[in-house]
Amino acid sequence: TSLVVAVDGPSGSGKSSTARGVADRLGLAYLDTGAMYRAMTWALLRAGTDLSDPDAIAAAARGIHLESGVDPLDPTIYADGVDVAEAIRGENVTAAVSYVAAVPSVREQLVAMQRQSIADNGDRIVVEGRDIGSTVAPDADFKIYLVADPAARAARRAAEDGSADALATEQALAKRDEIDSNRAASPLAMADDAVLVDSTYMTLEEVIATIVDMVEQ
Ligand code: ADP
Ligand code: CDP
Repeated sequence: TSLVVAVDGPSGSGKSSTARGVADRLGLAYLDTGAMYRAMTWALLRAGTDLSDPDAIAAAARGIHLESGVDPLDPTIYADGVDVAEAIRGENVTAAVSYVAAVPSVREQLVAMQRQSIADNGDRIVVEGRDIGSTVAPDADFKIYLVADPAARAARRAAEDGSADALATEQALAKRDEIDSNRAASPLAMADDAVLVDSTYMTLEEVIATIVDMVEQ
């Protein structure tokens, strides 16, 4: 039987760690769609594409081949055959990714890959991103919209990045959320039928358990 779990929400709300934990506990595949937008951005930066030009982004993106592994304990991501798992977390990619993700044809290209991955895994998968419950998998069996206060998100992300500057991290997250929420194509927004989970005062284990309980009820 199908079990598609969609986890959406703003930057740093805990989507990746939560989705991986839920997939591991339930024996499901795991797809990080943010890593795909990041890998596309990495490849465009490498190619020297002008990221202020949506037409240039659209044209160059068509020639780039991405591959995502779906093991929650070992997620992998390749761009044109290069393992980019670490490189896509770099500041240059983070600063540029929301501009690439705003280009409609890039979204069409990646959404098609994401739907293929869901089908390839027999509709048994946790998919994490910004538009999963609204666009990629509107028929998902469970939809979670994960949020946390901006300060909590920034503190967690700064700790993860080894950055001492939580304020700069908070500003960078806010900037990305603003672009993601205001783009014309599939903006970040909670689906009408999603369940809101606020992780500000929850541990990661509590968030995972909340979603696993929801699915197992
Ligand atoms: P997202 O995928 O939404 O950007 P991540 O899963 O990468 O978020 O989480 C960002 C950071 O916050 C990671 O270091 C993660 O371990 C930590 N984290 C996630 N959820 C929680 C939580 N509920 N409590 C504390 N830290 C958390
Ligand atoms: O983990 P973090 O919150 O930093 O971001 P991410 O999930 O890696 O996503 C990086 C960026 O990709 C987001 O800021 C969005 O611009 C874009 N994205 C998107 O537009 N749609 C998705 N389904 C996933 C990510």
